[in-house]
Amino acid sequence: MGTLIKGGKVVSSTSTTLADVLIEGETIARVAPGIDAVGHTVVDATGMLVLPGGIDVHTHLDMPFGGTTSADDYEWGTRAAAIGGTTTLIDFALQSMGRPMTEAFTTWRTKSDGKACIDYGLHMAVTDLGPNDAWLDDVNAMVAEGISSFKIFMAYPNVLMVNDATIFKLMQRTAKLGALVCVHAENGTVIDVVVQQILAAGNTGPLYHALSRPVETEAEAVHRVVTIAELTGASVYIVHVSCEESMREVKAGRERGLPVMGETCTQYLVLSIEDDMGKPGFEDAKYVFTPPLRKKKNQATLWEALKNDVLQVISTDHCPFRFADQKTLGLGDFTKIPNGGPGVENRMQLAYHHGVNEGRMSLERFVEVTAEAPAKIFGMYPRKGILAFGSDADILIWDPEAKYRITAATQNMHTDYSIFEGFEVKGNARQVYSRGECIVDGGKFTGRVGRGQYLRRGLGEVLAG
Ligand code: URP
Ligand code: ZN
Ligand code: ZN
Repeated sequence: MGTLIKGGKVVSSTSTTLADVLIEGETIARVAPGIDAVGHTVVDATGMLVLPGGIDVHTHLDMPFGGTTSADDYEWGTRAAAIGGTTTLIDFALQSMGRPMTEAFTTWRTKSDGKACIDYGLHMAVTDLGPNDAWLDDVNAMVAEGISSFKIFMAYPNVLMVNDATIFKLMQRTAKLGALVCVHAENGTVIDVVVQQILAAGNTGPLYHALSRPVETEAEAVHRVVTIAELTGASVYIVHVSCEESMREVKAGRERGLPVMGETCTQYLVLSIEDDMGKPGFEDAKYVFTPPLRKKKNQATLWEALKNDVLQVISTDHCPFRFADQKTLGLGDFTKIPNGGPGVENRMQLAYHHGVNEGRMSLERFVEVTAEAPAKIFGMYPRKGILAFGSDADILIWDPEAKYRITAATQNMHTDYSIFEGFEVKGNARQVYSRGECIVDGGKFTGRVGRGQYLRRGLGEVLAG
């Protein structure tokens, strides 16, 4: 006896078909039209879309940063993700400078195990290759633990930033192993000088965070890291591409046949410096994240890049801080505002509404950029990212007509504001299944805290241009 999702339209990156989905245990037993209902519990999905559960590959849960810790722990962050239709996320374990990567792995598993509500993997954020580069061997150890992607920061000097020598050595190693390097691309050294000059001129408000990080500082770093990747033969994935100038660098790399891929995030697709910043008082601190919001014209460019496969993924960079007692650490000095914003709960709604409803991408491409491509790039396919025989039964019953107003008053993320406050969307998850279990019904979490499993990921695929 299984659960039969009947009468919906099943969507993949290549097709939308009227079909039933039979779940047996934790996996999908059959996808076909007209499956006999006898002996099964039937869930009527007439008029609904049936989608693979969303995959958000860029979150920062329970992360120490900017003198505080991100406001969602694994329980709250993964529950909010589930309610918004995300059934898998990949979070970042952060290597402390002077400590091995293996320690960061243990620390992050301690934060997550017993708390996660959905399945999750980890990337390793590399900050230090250790004495005589001894911790380069940790890269092999991490791959054996299911961490097949490594993050480097080209920004945040003295905190997380690594130099080009470290990038080069890390990439030589990942190229050998077939692992992926994910890059926060901003020229941290130049930005630091600009920041000091801005502060010296007496400018301390939150808008100056954005003004201190011009698009050229992002594009230069993308160009540099793509060049280092080319030198070493490494595959590279540029996180949070925010502007046309950076997108062009990704495009140029792909057109040269290099294994270069990239994501953008919901905030860069629907928010802008003109529409959302320049507010009175300290309000702009809510939008202090890096890269910062860009001019509105970049939104169309990024949607186009997603549609044309210059960028492959929409993620969130969910890194929430409360306004009242965390963002205000930077009152009087924008460099002390913890960088990051909440978003994991709203990614699917915003991408669907502004992407599919508003004609910027097809339904199939929506499924690809929110689930299938992330699963492939990060070594989880076909277990995740598709509704097919043998795959995990991570399924959204998506109501394309459901109207929803995003507001901090009703959200599940633990911030006292929403960067998308007042956005009206059409299209929302009615039910969410994770490994065969209905964990969200009508916007309410019905699963058990701690049920989420750590995913040992394999090596990912390069989605070439
Ligand atoms: O401002 C941001 N994006 N905070 C999280 C860390 C990062 O840079 O991804
Ligand atoms: Zn970043
Ligand atoms: Zn991030």
